[in-house]
Amino acid sequence: MPGALADRPIGVFDSGIGGLSVLNALRDALPHERFAYFADTAHAPYGERGDAYVAQRTRTVARYLRDRHGIKALVVACNTATAAAIHELRAEHPNLTVVGVEPALKPAVAASSTGHIAVLATRVTVESRKFAALHASLAGRADFRIIPCDGLAGAIEGGDAAGIAALSERYLRQAGSFGTAPGQIDTLVLGCTHYPFIAAELRRHCGEAVRFIDTGAPVALQTRRLLAQAGQLATEGEGAVALLSSAAPEALDAAAARWLARSGVPAALAGA
Ligand code: DGL
Repeated sequence: MPGALADRPIGVFDSGIGGLSVLNALRDALPHERFAYFADTAHAPYGERGDAYVAQRTRTVARYLRDRHGIKALVVACNTATAAAIHELRAEHPNLTVVGVEPALKPAVAASSTGHIAVLATRVTVESRKFAALHASLAGRADFRIIPCDGLAGAIEGGDAAGIAALSERYLRQAGSFGTAPGQIDTLVLGCTHYPFIAAELRRHCGEAVRFIDTGAPVALQTRRLLAQAGQLATEGEGAVALLSSAAPEALDAAAARWLARSGVPAALAGA
């Protein structure tokens, strides 16, 4: 029998709308759960802010979700926030199930035939110690072209189609030649949760044969596994989503209506 904690919501957090790509996978894997999704829109994008700033915001949002929404688990649906603060979060909330996301380098190695992999992520992510350790752990297993995509999450957040197109082209050109021939990049890691929303645009520049790897589904399965282990899985009742943001709730509403497979309730302005 699940305990009383099973009834509490799961917090899901990103700098903005990107984490909705993870929330989609979470809702598929955990259909009976209630989710409190927080977009830190007032402080987005995080990717070029510096890690001390991102760590401070991440800790503030985590405390807000715990204290005001009584969450039983927190999914940091942001590679940048995970890179900057996941260790601190775990230390600060020893009784909370905390799940982070990181660029899926290992699955990319398994998926690639040519051994040439491009990684798109924010600057804070790729310059973090956590990412350096992950990269070093795979030394010699593949050739990684790591591209810090300044401005791209911001363009997605702002719905700037021309910016998205120009930056996608620039960063993919910078990565190198895409395809399945020897020496070509056959696998693209979407190392920022905003990027799955521009998969079609990215594909225009690198072609149909390239495999895209993101982390929504594995993160959702890991969340389910940890909640089941803790006896905190909701196993009955209807799932729900509460949308919260630190600014511009209507922008989150519009993004959720567009991107969430089943659209959520209207977003509320929250004071984290
Ligand atoms: N969606 C985020 C990530 O996965 C952050 C993007 C940003 O705010 O720069 O890294």
